[in-house]
Amino acid sequence: MIYGAILAGGSGTRMHVSSMPKQFLPLRGKPIIIHTLEKMLACNKFHAVYLGVHPSWMSYMYDLLDKYNIETDRVRLAQGGETRNGTIFKIIDEIKRDYGENDDDIIVTHDAVRPFVTLRILEENIAAAETYGACDTVVCATDTIVRSENGEEISEIPNREFMYQGQTPQSFKIKLLKELYAQLTNEEKETLTDACKICVIKNVPVKLIKGETLNMKITTVNDYEIAEVIAGGIKLD
Ligand code: CTP
Repeated sequence: MIYGAILAGGSGTRMHVSSMPKQFLPLRGKPIIIHTLEKMLACNKFHAVYLGVHPSWMSYMYDLLDKYNIETDRVRLAQGGETRNGTIFKIIDEIKRDYGENDDDIIVTHDAVRPFVTLRILEENIAAAETYGACDTVVCATDTIVRSENGEEISEIPNREFMYQGQTPQSFKIKLLKELYAQLTNEEKETLTDACKICVIKNVPVKLIKGETLNMKITTVNDYEIAEVIAGGIKLD
């Protein structure tokens, strides 16, 4: 079966605007997380869509589902973890409890704070996870990437032709992701910045899926202001 997993266990510390995690802030009057959830639910390939929510915000999330009349038969809540990957594995545990385990189960993990994901991106993720076992959504780097090890001087300017910016969704065969994660040392686990790195460390190929510039992540107040404009009607095509 194919499951959506919305990662909403974070606290949004870089946003600095509210005592509320950024995924609950309104975008054109509707919480960011509800925009994201509606996009995921529009993909009828998902058997269920899980929300991995910070434990302190679970009852708030249930109230939001009620308030926005979400068709709750396809929506499940799981407690978020201490890290982003922790949230993913808590959702995977919850899926096993709810539906059991099948070798070909797929999970499409997506940041709660990327409300402009498209159906095309979701469907291409599902198809690639089925074929390759793992995929990542990326856009070509348009700015030159400058690497600096000390934050003072340039260490390297990598060839932009080979540079991409990672977005989400990141999608996997659940069995593969669990097996690879179990093989990592504690030190390797500490270097993980995202879920695809689990595959990269173990030399398992990760297929690239073309993202969209507008599939932005809301991280800072500036991003939030840009998201308000996009939500107000900029068209993708
Ligand atoms: N996330 C999560 N569980 C965590 C940490 C993050 O599910 N323990 C989610 C966030 O809720 C967000 C996504 O991962 O939807 C992307 O992470 P990021 O933008 O870094 O969110 P925060 O951790 O909330 O933000 P910050 O780093 O500014 O505190």
